[in-house]
Amino acid sequence: MLGIQFFSFVFWSCLILQATCWKMRYDADGDLNLNDLVEKLGYGGIESFYVTSPDGYIINIIHVKQQNSENLMPVLFIHGLTACAGSFFGKKNESTPIIVANHGYDVWLMNNRGTIESSNHTRLNQTDKEFWYFSWQEIGLYDLPLAIDEVLKHNVHDKLILIGHSEGSTVIFVTLSELPQYNDKVSLSIHMGTSVYHKGCSTIKLLAVLCELLEPVMAELGESLEIFSFRALSQIREFLFVFCRYIIFKPACVEIAKNTLQSEYSQIKYVDDWSFFVRNTLCGGSLREGQHYMQVGLTGRFARYSFGPEKNLQVYNSTEPPLFHLENVRSPVVLWCGKNDVFCTPEDITKLVTQLKNVETTYFKGYTHFSHIDYLVAKDMDKYVYRQLLNLMKKYSFQNFRSGSV
Ligand SMILES: *[C@@H]1O[C@H](CO)[C@@H](O)[C@H](O)[C@H]1NC(C)=O
Ligand SMILES: *[C@@H]1O[C@H](CO)[C@@H](O)[C@H](O)[C@H]1NC(C)=O
Ligand SMILES: *[C@@H]1O[C@H](CO)[C@@H](O)[C@H](O)[C@H]1NC(C)=O
Ligand SMILES: *[C@@H]1O[C@H](CO)[C@@H](O)[C@H](O)[C@H]1NC(C)=O
Repeated sequence: MLGIQFFSFVFWSCLILQATCWKMRYDADGDLNLNDLVEKLGYGGIESFYVTSPDGYIINIIHVKQQNSENLMPVLFIHGLTACAGSFFGKKNESTPIIVANHGYDVWLMNNRGTIESSNHTRLNQTDKEFWYFSWQEIGLYDLPLAIDEVLKHNVHDKLILIGHSEGSTVIFVTLSELPQYNDKVSLSIHMGTSVYHKGCSTIKLLAVLCELLEPVMAELGESLEIFSFRALSQIREFLFVFCRYIIFKPACVEIAKNTLQSEYSQIKYVDDWSFFVRNTLCGGSLREGQHYMQVGLTGRFARYSFGPEKNLQVYNSTEPPLFHLENVRSPVVLWCGKNDVFCTPEDITKLVTQLKNVETTYFKGYTHFSHIDYLVAKDMDKYVYRQLLNLMKKYSFQNFRSGSV
């Protein structure tokens, strides 16, 4: 008897609790897919284009549909590690792609290889180990150049603006260093959470030391694994999505985000709407991308992926992997690095700035309390980023029309 009463009590409590929680949902847009969100924000939704890299990855590029877009200055966004194009829309009507579109730009976003939307391959399947044998080096050498050409094919201008967040910044530097001719197609590159040197990042260094200790295990695992399987990732994502959309759990979500991102002073705590962002983040990536960052963090060399001395000799004809040629970056760059960004420290940025020829502006430590992720979610974007961003973009727009057209 007691058993039945107990279960009945639990049953009704759960129902009532569920109903109450339902009322306390605070993000009605969390269920929307990216196309519907973009439509709701006043654009024609999104369309997808695909390019195939020389090593067989089929890369998804998203275009925000709007009238006359081919005449507007094109902007291509490149997201960070484990994120995807959708992560840029976490602030919805106040997200960077929408603000930029509202100011008359033609908006494009690349989904990096290994994310859900860019998980097809001409030969390989995501269940093959070999599928995950890539780092951000390949994204910069193969995928971004193709994406740039695809965007310019659909636009009258012969130059575009690149906006990279975190790994997106790394990828841009790889392309502009190793394929110098692409500097002619880029009127400005904007780096949010600039990510080249990581010698100052104690987190990366700590991880790298741990990984070195675990080298024998990593050699077995590390070469093969995606960071999470898509299945595991989607389960974590769905859990966070459901959990974080209730006001009562918001403090817990903020704690999780703060701790995983090491940003005590981040603006994360002011974020109102979590669920769209959560559902559109954690999209996949390879372990080698992380390993490559650790190598850069430990050695202080912005260089190609190291396979170890013996294989390096075969692949690169030298025991050390060759440096990326940052001296080739001719197109102007804007570097952002917030005070609380653990991934770019003063020594990292200073080192980078001395190696670049054409730094337009550096927003550096101390200018604001931004952390690495704040560019996607912070409340103060309009105050600390958008105004400066839009002025700079304007300065570098509409300069070069394709000769003979329009
Ligand atoms: C975005 O939407 C919110 C809530 O709907 C509104 O308060 C805010 O003014 C909007 N911001 C912009 C830039 O349109
Ligand atoms: C991958 O290819 C399959 C088969 O052609 C297709 O059904 C699927 O939609 C593709 N996935 C993506 C993310 O493009
Ligand atoms: C990928 O591999 C799995 C397991 O081997 C198989 O079930 C699936 O059909 C394959 N998918 C494609 C698109 O080849
Ligand atoms: C390999 O490196 C050595 C020494 O740096 C050089 O002499 C040789 O020409 C290189 N070989 C190739 C194929 O580049």
